[in-house]
Amino acid sequence: MSKTNFKKLYNPADFAQQGLLVFELLQDFLEKAQSEDSKTINYRSPEDELDFWKKWPNKHKGAAENQKIQALITSLFGHTNHIHNPKYIGHQVGAPLPINSFLGAATALINNGMAVYEMGMAPTAMERIVTDWLCSRVGFDHKSRGFLTSGGTLANLTALLAARRTIVKEDIWHTGNTKKLGVMVSAEAHYCIDRAARIMGLGDQGIIGIPLNKQFCADATKLEEVYQNAVKKGIEVFAIVGSAPSTATGNFDPLEEMAQFAKSKSIWFHVDGAHGGAVVLSKKYKHLMKGAEDADSIVIDGHKMMLMPTLTTALLFKKGDNAHRNFNQRVEYLLHDTEEEDWYNGAKRTFECTKTMTSVYWYTLLQVYGEKIFEDFIDRQFDLAKDFIKILDLHPRFEYFLPPDSNIVCFRYLFEGSHDEVNHKNNALRQLVLEDGTYYCVKTVLNKTQFLRVSLMNATTEVSHLKEFIQFTEKMAQKLI
Ligand SMILES: Cc1ncc(COP(=O)(O)O)c(C=O)c1O
Repeated sequence: MSKTNFKKLYNPADFAQQGLLVFELLQDFLEKAQSEDSKTINYRSPEDELDFWKKWPNKHKGAAENQKIQALITSLFGHTNHIHNPKYIGHQVGAPLPINSFLGAATALINNGMAVYEMGMAPTAMERIVTDWLCSRVGFDHKSRGFLTSGGTLANLTALLAARRTIVKEDIWHTGNTKKLGVMVSAEAHYCIDRAARIMGLGDQGIIGIPLNKQFCADATKLEEVYQNAVKKGIEVFAIVGSAPSTATGNFDPLEEMAQFAKSKSIWFHVDGAHGGAVVLSKKYKHLMKGAEDADSIVIDGHKMMLMPTLTTALLFKKGDNAHRNFNQRVEYLLHDTEEEDWYNGAKRTFECTKTMTSVYWYTLLQVYGEKIFEDFIDRQFDLAKDFIKILDLHPRFEYFLPPDSNIVCFRYLFEGSHDEVNHKNNALRQLVLEDGTYYCVKTVLNKTQFLRVSLMNATTEVSHLKEFIQFTEKMAQKLI
Protein backbone atom coordinates (compact mmCIF):
# COMPACT_ATOMS: atom_id res chain seq x y z
CA MET A 1 0.00 0.00 0.00
CA SER A 2 1.41 3.39 -0.93
CA LYS A 3 2.01 5.91 1.81
CA THR A 4 -0.25 8.94 2.28
CA ASN A 5 0.79 11.81 0.05
CA PHE A 6 0.54 14.62 2.59
CA LYS A 7 1.94 17.19 0.20
CA LYS A 8 -1.02 16.61 -2.07
CA LEU A 9 -3.50 16.77 0.81
CA TYR A 10 -2.16 20.21 1.69
CA ASN A 11 -2.07 21.45 -1.91
CA PRO A 12 -3.64 24.94 -2.08
CA ALA A 13 -5.02 24.55 -5.61
CA ASP A 14 -6.74 21.24 -4.79
CA PHE A 15 -8.08 22.81 -1.63
CA ALA A 16 -9.58 25.72 -3.56
CA GLN A 17 -11.17 23.36 -6.06
CA GLN A 18 -12.78 21.33 -3.28
CA GLY A 19 -13.87 24.55 -1.62
CA LEU A 20 -15.73 25.76 -4.71
CA LEU A 21 -17.52 22.47 -4.88
CA VAL A 22 -18.49 22.57 -1.21
CA PHE A 23 -19.70 26.17 -1.33
CA GLU A 24 -21.88 25.34 -4.33
CA LEU A 25 -23.44 22.60 -2.24
CA LEU A 26 -23.91 25.03 0.64
CA GLN A 27 -25.65 27.46 -1.71
CA ASP A 28 -27.96 24.66 -2.80
CA PHE A 29 -28.60 23.73 0.83
CA LEU A 30 -29.51 27.28 1.73
CA GLU A 31 -31.82 27.62 -1.26
CA LYS A 32 -33.59 24.35 -0.49
CA ALA A 33 -33.81 25.08 3.23
CA GLN A 34 -35.55 28.37 2.51
CA SER A 35 -37.89 27.10 -0.19
CA GLU A 36 -41.55 26.90 0.79
CA ASP A 37 -42.02 23.21 0.09
CA SER A 38 -38.97 21.83 1.90
CA LYS A 39 -39.11 20.02 5.24
CA THR A 40 -37.50 21.21 8.44
CA ILE A 41 -36.54 17.66 9.38
CA ASN A 42 -36.79 14.21 7.82
CA TYR A 43 -37.18 12.42 11.10
CA ARG A 44 -35.73 8.95 11.45
CA SER A 45 -35.37 6.85 14.57
CA PRO A 46 -31.91 6.84 16.21
CA GLU A 47 -31.43 3.18 15.20
CA ASP A 48 -32.26 3.89 11.55
CA GLU A 49 -29.91 6.86 11.57
CA LEU A 50 -27.09 4.83 13.06
CA ASP A 51 -27.67 2.17 10.45
CA PHE A 52 -27.56 4.75 7.63
CA TRP A 53 -24.15 6.04 8.69
CA LYS A 54 -22.79 2.58 9.32
CA LYS A 55 -23.72 1.61 5.77
CA TRP A 56 -22.55 4.88 4.26
CA PRO A 57 -18.91 3.80 3.63
CA ASN A 58 -19.98 0.72 1.72
CA LYS A 59 -22.27 2.72 -0.54
CA HIS A 60 -19.48 5.09 -1.46
CA LYS A 61 -16.64 2.61 -1.65
CA GLY A 62 -14.38 3.33 -4.57
CA ALA A 63 -15.64 6.88 -5.09
CA ALA A 64 -12.99 9.51 -5.74
CA GLU A 65 -12.05 11.90 -2.94
CA ASN A 66 -14.07 14.83 -4.30
CA GLN A 67 -17.06 12.62 -4.96
CA LYS A 68 -16.90 11.35 -1.41
CA ILE A 69 -16.82 14.87 0.00
CA GLN A 70 -19.77 15.82 -2.18
CA ALA A 71 -21.72 12.70 -1.23
CA LEU A 72 -21.01 13.15 2.45
CA ILE A 73 -22.20 16.74 2.54
CA THR A 74 -25.28 15.87 0.52
CA SER A 75 -26.05 13.03 2.94
CA LEU A 76 -25.59 15.43 5.86
CA PHE A 77 -28.18 17.78 4.37
CA GLY A 78 -30.67 14.96 4.06
CA HIS A 79 -30.17 13.83 7.64
CA THR A 80 -30.01 17.01 9.70
CA ASN A 81 -32.41 19.71 10.95
CA HIS A 82 -32.80 22.56 8.51
CA ILE A 83 -32.52 25.44 10.89
CA HIS A 84 -32.58 27.95 8.03
CA ASN A 85 -36.06 26.83 7.08
CA PRO A 86 -38.44 29.61 8.24
CA LYS A 87 -40.73 26.87 9.56
CA TYR A 88 -38.04 25.68 11.97
CA ILE A 89 -39.38 27.13 15.20
CA GLY A 90 -38.04 24.59 17.65
CA HIS A 91 -34.97 24.70 19.82
CA GLN A 92 -32.98 27.77 20.79
CA VAL A 93 -30.37 27.28 18.13
CA GLY A 94 -30.10 30.26 15.82
CA ALA A 95 -29.95 30.13 12.04
CA PRO A 96 -26.47 31.65 11.71
CA LEU A 97 -25.82 34.23 9.03
CA PRO A 98 -24.36 32.36 6.05
CA ILE A 99 -21.25 34.57 6.15
CA ASN A 100 -20.29 32.62 9.28
CA SER A 101 -19.53 29.61 7.08
CA PHE A 102 -16.64 31.47 5.48
CA LEU A 103 -15.35 32.42 8.90
CA GLY A 104 -15.74 28.81 10.07
CA ALA A 105 -13.70 27.65 7.09
CA ALA A 106 -11.05 30.31 7.67
CA THR A 107 -10.71 29.71 11.40
CA ALA A 108 -10.60 25.92 10.98
CA LEU A 109 -7.73 26.31 8.58
CA ILE A 110 -5.81 28.96 10.52
CA ASN A 111 -6.52 27.00 13.73
CA ASN A 112 -4.76 29.23 16.25
CA GLY A 113 -5.18 27.57 19.63
CA MET A 114 -5.44 30.72 21.78
CA ALA A 115 -4.42 29.25 25.13
CA VAL A 116 -1.84 31.99 25.48
CA TYR A 117 -1.35 35.18 23.50
CA GLU A 118 1.33 33.95 21.13
CA MET A 119 -0.92 31.03 20.14
CA GLY A 120 -3.48 33.44 18.67
CA MET A 121 -2.58 37.10 18.54
CA ALA A 122 -5.41 38.45 16.39
CA PRO A 123 -8.24 36.38 17.89
CA THR A 124 -7.02 37.29 21.39
CA ALA A 125 -7.11 41.01 20.61
CA MET A 126 -10.50 40.59 18.92
CA GLU A 127 -11.81 38.76 21.97
CA ARG A 128 -10.79 41.67 24.21
CA ILE A 129 -12.48 44.17 21.89
CA VAL A 130 -15.78 42.33 21.57
CA THR A 131 -16.04 41.47 25.26
CA ASP A 132 -15.16 45.06 26.27
CA TRP A 133 -17.92 46.19 23.91
CA LEU A 134 -20.42 43.76 25.44
CA CYS A 135 -19.41 44.80 28.98
CA SER A 136 -20.03 48.44 28.09
CA ARG A 137 -23.46 47.60 26.62
CA VAL A 138 -24.41 45.72 29.79
CA GLY A 139 -23.49 48.83 31.78
CA PHE A 140 -20.22 47.63 33.34
CA ASP A 141 -17.32 50.06 33.78
CA HIS A 142 -13.64 49.85 32.82
CA LYS A 143 -12.86 47.38 35.62
CA SER A 144 -14.94 44.74 33.86
CA ARG A 145 -13.50 42.00 31.66
CA GLY A 146 -14.92 39.16 29.66
CA PHE A 147 -13.84 36.22 27.59
CA LEU A 148 -15.35 33.81 25.13
CA THR A 149 -15.85 30.18 26.00
CA SER A 150 -17.46 27.00 24.70
CA GLY A 151 -21.15 27.34 25.46
CA GLY A 152 -23.49 28.72 28.08
CA THR A 153 -23.22 25.54 30.14
CA LEU A 154 -19.48 25.86 30.63
CA ALA A 155 -19.75 29.62 31.10
CA ASN A 156 -22.31 29.22 33.91
CA LEU A 157 -20.05 26.72 35.69
CA THR A 158 -17.08 29.06 35.30
CA ALA A 159 -19.09 31.97 36.71
CA LEU A 160 -20.23 29.96 39.74
CA LEU A 161 -16.66 28.84 40.40
CA ALA A 162 -15.60 32.48 40.38
CA ALA A 163 -18.49 33.28 42.72
CA ARG A 164 -17.40 30.65 45.21
CA ARG A 165 -13.78 31.68 45.02
CA THR A 166 -14.63 35.32 45.60
CA ILE A 167 -17.35 35.11 48.26
CA VAL A 168 -16.43 32.09 50.38
CA LYS A 169 -13.58 32.86 52.79
CA GLU A 170 -12.12 29.35 52.87
CA ASP A 171 -9.60 28.61 50.14
CA ILE A 172 -11.60 25.80 48.52
CA TRP A 173 -9.21 25.66 45.58
CA HIS A 174 -6.71 24.11 47.99
CA THR A 175 -8.81 22.61 50.78
CA GLY A 176 -11.83 21.33 48.85
CA ASN A 177 -15.33 21.91 50.22
CA THR A 178 -15.22 21.92 54.00
CA LYS A 179 -18.70 23.23 54.75
CA LYS A 180 -22.23 23.39 53.40
CA LEU A 181 -22.49 25.89 50.56
CA GLY A 182 -25.46 26.87 48.44
CA VAL A 183 -26.71 28.77 45.40
CA MET A 184 -30.19 30.30 45.19
CA VAL A 185 -31.92 29.74 41.87
CA SER A 186 -35.44 29.15 40.60
CA ALA A 187 -36.49 25.72 39.38
CA GLU A 188 -37.05 27.25 35.95
CA ALA A 189 -33.36 27.99 35.46
CA HIS A 190 -31.61 26.00 32.74
CA TYR A 191 -30.59 22.55 33.99
CA CYS A 192 -26.90 23.45 33.57
CA ILE A 193 -27.05 25.60 36.73
CA ASP A 194 -28.14 22.60 38.76
CA ARG A 195 -25.44 20.54 37.04
CA ALA A 196 -22.78 23.17 37.76
CA ALA A 197 -23.74 23.26 41.45
CA ARG A 198 -23.49 19.46 41.66
CA ILE A 199 -20.14 19.41 39.85
CA MET A 200 -18.95 21.89 42.48
CA GLY A 201 -19.92 19.39 45.16
CA LEU A 202 -22.85 21.37 46.58
CA GLY A 203 -25.21 18.39 46.45
CA ASP A 204 -29.02 18.47 46.75
CA GLN A 205 -28.98 20.79 49.73
CA GLY A 206 -26.79 23.31 47.95
CA ILE A 207 -29.33 24.02 45.21
CA ILE A 208 -31.71 26.30 47.03
CA GLY A 209 -34.92 26.69 45.07
CA ILE A 210 -36.60 30.08 44.80
CA PRO A 211 -40.39 29.63 44.45
CA LEU A 212 -41.99 30.84 41.24
CA ASN A 213 -44.35 33.77 40.86
CA LYS A 214 -47.32 33.94 38.49
CA GLN A 215 -45.01 34.73 35.60
CA PHE A 216 -43.18 31.45 36.28
CA CYS A 217 -40.11 33.45 37.31
CA ALA A 218 -38.23 33.68 40.60
CA ASP A 219 -40.57 35.25 43.17
CA ALA A 220 -38.66 38.26 44.51
CA THR A 221 -40.92 38.47 47.57
CA LYS A 222 -39.64 35.05 48.74
CA LEU A 223 -35.90 35.70 48.55
CA GLU A 224 -35.41 36.65 52.21
CA GLU A 225 -37.42 33.69 53.49
CA VAL A 226 -35.56 31.23 51.27
CA TYR A 227 -32.22 32.66 52.32
CA GLN A 228 -33.04 32.54 56.04
CA ASN A 229 -34.23 28.94 55.76
CA ALA A 230 -30.92 28.00 54.19
CA VAL A 231 -28.95 29.84 56.87
CA LYS A 232 -30.95 28.01 59.56
CA LYS A 233 -29.82 24.73 58.00
CA GLY A 234 -26.22 25.87 58.30
CA ILE A 235 -25.77 26.54 54.59
CA GLU A 236 -23.64 29.45 53.47
CA VAL A 237 -25.37 30.92 50.42
CA PHE A 238 -22.69 32.46 48.21
CA ALA A 239 -24.62 33.22 45.01
CA ILE A 240 -28.00 33.90 43.50
CA VAL A 241 -28.69 33.21 39.83
CA GLY A 242 -31.19 35.06 37.66
CA SER A 243 -32.38 33.67 34.32
CA ALA A 244 -32.58 36.10 31.44
CA PRO A 245 -34.79 34.48 30.41
CA SER A 246 -35.55 31.00 31.70
CA THR A 247 -35.40 28.34 29.01
CA ALA A 248 -38.86 26.79 29.07
CA THR A 249 -41.06 29.89 29.18
CA GLY A 250 -38.68 32.56 27.94
CA ASN A 251 -39.61 34.90 30.78
CA PHE A 252 -37.06 37.06 32.59
CA ASP A 253 -36.45 36.79 36.33
CA PRO A 254 -36.82 40.04 38.34
CA LEU A 255 -33.14 40.91 37.97
CA GLU A 256 -33.32 44.28 39.68
CA GLU A 257 -34.75 42.85 42.88
CA MET A 258 -32.31 39.95 42.75
CA ALA A 259 -29.39 42.36 42.34
CA GLN A 260 -30.54 44.38 45.36
CA PHE A 261 -30.96 41.22 47.37
CA ALA A 262 -27.48 39.97 46.46
CA LYS A 263 -26.03 43.33 47.48
CA SER A 264 -27.86 43.30 50.81
CA LYS A 265 -26.38 39.88 51.63
CA SER A 266 -22.95 40.52 50.08
CA ILE A 267 -23.32 37.50 47.82
CA TRP A 268 -22.57 37.06 44.13
CA PHE A 269 -25.25 37.84 41.57
CA HIS A 270 -24.96 35.85 38.35
CA VAL A 271 -27.21 36.43 35.34
CA ASP A 272 -27.65 33.55 32.96
CA GLY A 273 -28.41 35.55 29.84
CA ALA A 274 -27.39 32.71 27.52
CA HIS A 275 -30.60 33.12 25.58
CA GLY A 276 -31.69 36.72 26.09
CA GLY A 277 -28.72 38.64 27.49
CA ALA A 278 -28.26 40.20 24.06
CA VAL A 279 -31.36 42.35 24.65
CA VAL A 280 -28.97 44.89 26.18
CA LEU A 281 -28.45 45.85 22.52
CA SER A 282 -32.14 46.61 21.95
CA LYS A 283 -33.61 49.96 22.95
CA LYS A 284 -37.05 48.41 22.90
CA TYR A 285 -36.33 45.37 25.08
CA LYS A 286 -33.30 46.23 27.18
CA HIS A 287 -35.57 47.03 30.13
CA LEU A 288 -35.85 43.24 30.56
CA MET A 289 -32.19 43.20 31.65
CA LYS A 290 -32.59 46.04 34.15
CA GLY A 291 -30.53 45.06 37.19
CA ALA A 292 -27.98 43.10 35.15
CA GLU A 293 -25.66 46.10 35.30
CA ASP A 294 -25.29 45.25 39.00
CA ALA A 295 -24.54 41.59 38.35
CA ASP A 296 -21.11 40.18 39.14
CA SER A 297 -21.17 37.98 36.07
CA ILE A 298 -23.29 37.54 32.94
CA VAL A 299 -23.42 34.88 30.24
CA ILE A 300 -24.51 35.72 26.69
CA ASP A 301 -24.59 33.14 23.88
CA GLY A 302 -23.71 34.44 20.43
CA HIS A 303 -25.23 31.27 18.96
CA LYS A 304 -28.69 32.00 20.28
CA MET A 305 -29.84 35.57 19.66
CA MET A 306 -26.79 36.97 17.87
CA LEU A 307 -26.82 35.20 14.51
CA MET A 308 -23.60 33.29 15.14
CA PRO A 309 -22.93 29.54 14.96
CA THR A 310 -22.25 27.24 17.90
CA LEU A 311 -20.42 27.76 20.21
CA THR A 312 -19.88 31.46 20.68
CA THR A 313 -20.49 32.28 24.33
CA ALA A 314 -19.36 35.39 26.17
CA LEU A 315 -18.82 35.39 29.95
CA LEU A 316 -18.57 38.90 31.40
CA PHE A 317 -17.33 39.88 34.84
CA LYS A 318 -18.12 43.19 36.49
CA LYS A 319 -14.73 43.02 38.17
CA GLY A 320 -12.15 41.53 35.87
CA ASP A 321 -9.97 40.51 38.83
CA ASN A 322 -12.53 37.91 39.82
CA ALA A 323 -12.17 36.17 36.48
CA HIS A 324 -8.43 36.30 36.76
CA ARG A 325 -8.18 34.71 40.17
CA ASN A 326 -10.59 31.87 39.37
CA PHE A 327 -8.16 29.22 38.20
CA ASN A 328 -5.07 29.73 40.23
CA GLN A 329 -2.57 27.46 38.53
CA ARG A 330 0.99 27.67 37.47
CA VAL A 331 1.95 25.55 34.49
CA GLU A 332 5.62 25.90 33.70
CA TYR A 333 5.44 25.47 29.98
CA LEU A 334 2.36 27.67 29.52
CA LEU A 335 0.99 29.74 32.42
CA HIS A 336 3.14 31.93 34.64
CA ASP A 337 2.43 34.26 37.54
CA THR A 338 2.57 37.87 36.41
CA GLU A 339 2.50 41.23 38.14
CA GLU A 340 0.43 42.89 35.43
CA GLU A 341 -3.03 41.82 34.30
CA ASP A 342 -2.20 39.56 31.35
CA TRP A 343 -5.68 39.64 29.84
CA TYR A 344 -4.13 38.19 26.69
CA ASN A 345 -3.30 34.80 28.18
CA GLY A 346 -6.79 33.32 27.95
CA ALA A 347 -6.19 29.91 29.52
CA LYS A 348 -5.65 31.57 32.91
CA ARG A 349 -9.34 32.43 32.96
CA THR A 350 -11.08 29.81 30.83
CA PHE A 351 -11.72 26.12 31.31
CA GLU A 352 -10.32 25.46 27.86
CA CYS A 353 -6.64 25.26 27.14
CA THR A 354 -6.85 25.15 23.33
CA LYS A 355 -10.01 26.84 22.14
CA THR A 356 -11.55 27.80 18.82
CA MET A 357 -11.14 31.32 17.41
CA THR A 358 -14.77 32.28 18.00
CA SER A 359 -13.91 35.93 18.49
CA VAL A 360 -13.51 36.08 14.70
CA TYR A 361 -17.27 35.60 14.31
CA TRP A 362 -18.09 38.31 16.85
CA TYR A 363 -15.57 40.76 15.52
CA THR A 364 -16.45 40.23 11.86
CA LEU A 365 -20.22 40.57 12.30
CA LEU A 366 -19.66 43.74 14.28
CA GLN A 367 -17.32 45.21 11.67
CA VAL A 368 -19.35 44.17 8.63
CA TYR A 369 -22.88 44.90 9.85
CA GLY A 370 -22.50 46.99 13.01
CA GLU A 371 -24.36 46.35 16.25
CA LYS A 372 -27.67 47.49 14.73
CA ILE A 373 -28.05 44.06 13.13
CA PHE A 374 -28.34 42.48 16.59
CA GLU A 375 -30.84 45.06 17.76
CA ASP A 376 -32.97 44.58 14.64
CA PHE A 377 -32.84 40.82 15.00
CA ILE A 378 -33.85 40.81 18.67
CA ASP A 379 -36.67 43.31 18.10
CA ARG A 380 -37.93 41.35 15.12
CA GLN A 381 -37.97 37.98 16.92
CA PHE A 382 -39.45 39.28 20.18
CA ASP A 383 -42.15 41.16 18.22
CA LEU A 384 -42.89 38.00 16.26
CA ALA A 385 -43.71 36.13 19.48
CA LYS A 386 -46.28 38.82 20.28
CA ASP A 387 -47.77 38.33 16.82
CA PHE A 388 -47.92 34.60 17.45
CA ILE A 389 -49.92 35.21 20.62
CA LYS A 390 -52.43 37.24 18.60
CA ILE A 391 -52.83 34.31 16.21
CA LEU A 392 -53.41 31.93 19.14
CA ASP A 393 -55.86 34.39 20.71
CA LEU A 394 -58.02 34.23 17.60
CA HIS A 395 -58.26 30.47 17.81
CA PRO A 396 -60.72 29.08 20.38
CA ARG A 397 -59.00 25.67 20.54
CA PHE A 398 -55.49 26.92 21.33
CA GLU A 399 -54.28 28.47 24.55
CA TYR A 400 -50.86 29.79 25.50
CA PHE A 401 -49.18 29.50 28.86
CA LEU A 402 -48.09 33.11 29.43
CA PRO A 403 -47.73 36.29 27.40
CA PRO A 404 -44.10 36.11 26.26
CA ASP A 405 -41.29 38.37 27.42
CA SER A 406 -39.06 37.06 24.64
CA ASN A 407 -39.30 34.92 21.50
CA ILE A 408 -40.35 31.70 23.24
CA VAL A 409 -44.03 30.71 23.47
CA CYS A 410 -45.60 27.65 25.10
CA PHE A 411 -49.08 26.69 23.93
CA ARG A 412 -51.38 23.70 23.69
CA TYR A 413 -54.46 22.43 21.93
CA LEU A 414 -57.56 22.22 24.08
CA PHE A 415 -58.67 18.67 23.40
CA GLU A 416 -61.73 17.31 25.21
CA GLY A 417 -61.01 14.99 28.13
CA SER A 418 -59.33 14.72 31.50
CA HIS A 419 -56.12 16.58 32.31
CA ASP A 420 -54.10 13.42 31.64
CA GLU A 421 -55.86 12.75 28.35
CA VAL A 422 -55.31 16.31 27.16
CA ASN A 423 -51.64 16.03 28.15
CA HIS A 424 -51.31 12.76 26.35
CA LYS A 425 -52.89 14.16 23.18
CA ASN A 426 -50.70 17.25 23.17
CA ASN A 427 -47.71 14.99 23.47
CA ALA A 428 -49.00 12.94 20.54
CA LEU A 429 -49.71 16.14 18.62
CA ARG A 430 -46.11 17.24 18.88
CA GLN A 431 -44.98 13.79 17.75
CA LEU A 432 -47.17 14.11 14.65
CA VAL A 433 -45.65 17.52 13.89
CA LEU A 434 -42.16 16.06 14.30
CA GLU A 435 -42.79 13.06 12.10
CA ASP A 436 -44.40 15.13 9.36
CA GLY A 437 -41.37 17.47 9.32
CA THR A 438 -43.01 20.45 7.58
CA TYR A 439 -42.68 22.45 10.80
CA TYR A 440 -40.43 21.83 13.72
CA CYS A 441 -41.51 22.79 17.24
CA VAL A 442 -40.63 21.26 20.61
CA LYS A 443 -42.51 20.54 23.82
CA THR A 444 -42.30 21.08 27.55
CA VAL A 445 -44.24 20.38 30.74
CA LEU A 446 -45.27 23.32 32.92
CA ASN A 447 -47.40 22.90 36.05
CA LYS A 448 -47.80 19.24 35.13
CA THR A 449 -49.38 20.29 31.85
CA GLN A 450 -48.03 19.31 28.45
CA PHE A 451 -47.31 22.23 26.12
CA LEU A 452 -45.90 22.60 22.66
CA ARG A 453 -43.17 25.18 22.53
CA VAL A 454 -41.78 27.43 19.85
CA SER A 455 -38.53 29.45 19.87
CA LEU A 456 -38.59 32.00 17.08
CA MET A 457 -34.89 32.00 16.20
CA ASN A 458 -35.02 32.39 12.44
CA ALA A 459 -34.87 35.84 10.85
CA THR A 460 -36.84 34.64 7.82
CA THR A 461 -39.84 33.34 9.76
CA GLU A 462 -42.83 35.59 9.00
CA VAL A 463 -46.24 35.98 10.60
CA SER A 464 -47.66 34.11 7.58
CA HIS A 465 -45.57 31.03 8.49
CA LEU A 466 -46.95 31.12 12.02
CA LYS A 467 -50.53 31.40 10.78
CA GLU A 468 -49.96 28.40 8.52
CA PHE A 469 -48.30 26.55 11.39
CA ILE A 470 -51.39 26.92 13.54
CA GLN A 471 -53.66 25.79 10.69
CA PHE A 472 -51.35 22.83 10.18
CA THR A 473 -51.28 21.96 13.89
CA GLU A 474 -55.06 22.16 14.03
CA LYS A 475 -55.24 19.68 11.13
CA MET A 476 -52.89 17.34 12.99
CA ALA A 477 -54.97 17.74 16.16
CA GLN A 478 -58.06 16.64 14.23
CA LYS A 479 -56.34 13.30 13.62
CA LEU A 480 -56.23 12.76 17.37
CA ILE A 481 -59.87 13.59 18.07
C1 LIG B 1 -31.00 30.08 29.90
C2 LIG B 1 -30.00 29.11 29.33
N1 LIG B 1 -28.83 28.94 29.95
C3 LIG B 1 -27.90 28.09 29.49
C4 LIG B 1 -28.12 27.36 28.36
C5 LIG B 1 -27.07 26.42 27.89
O1 LIG B 1 -26.32 27.05 26.92
P1 LIG B 1 -25.45 26.22 25.86
O2 LIG B 1 -26.43 25.42 25.08
O3 LIG B 1 -24.77 27.28 25.07
O4 LIG B 1 -24.50 25.38 26.64
C6 LIG B 1 -29.34 27.49 27.67
C7 LIG B 1 -29.61 26.71 26.46
O5 LIG B 1 -30.66 26.70 25.90
C8 LIG B 1 -30.30 28.41 28.17
O6 LIG B 1 -31.46 28.59 27.56
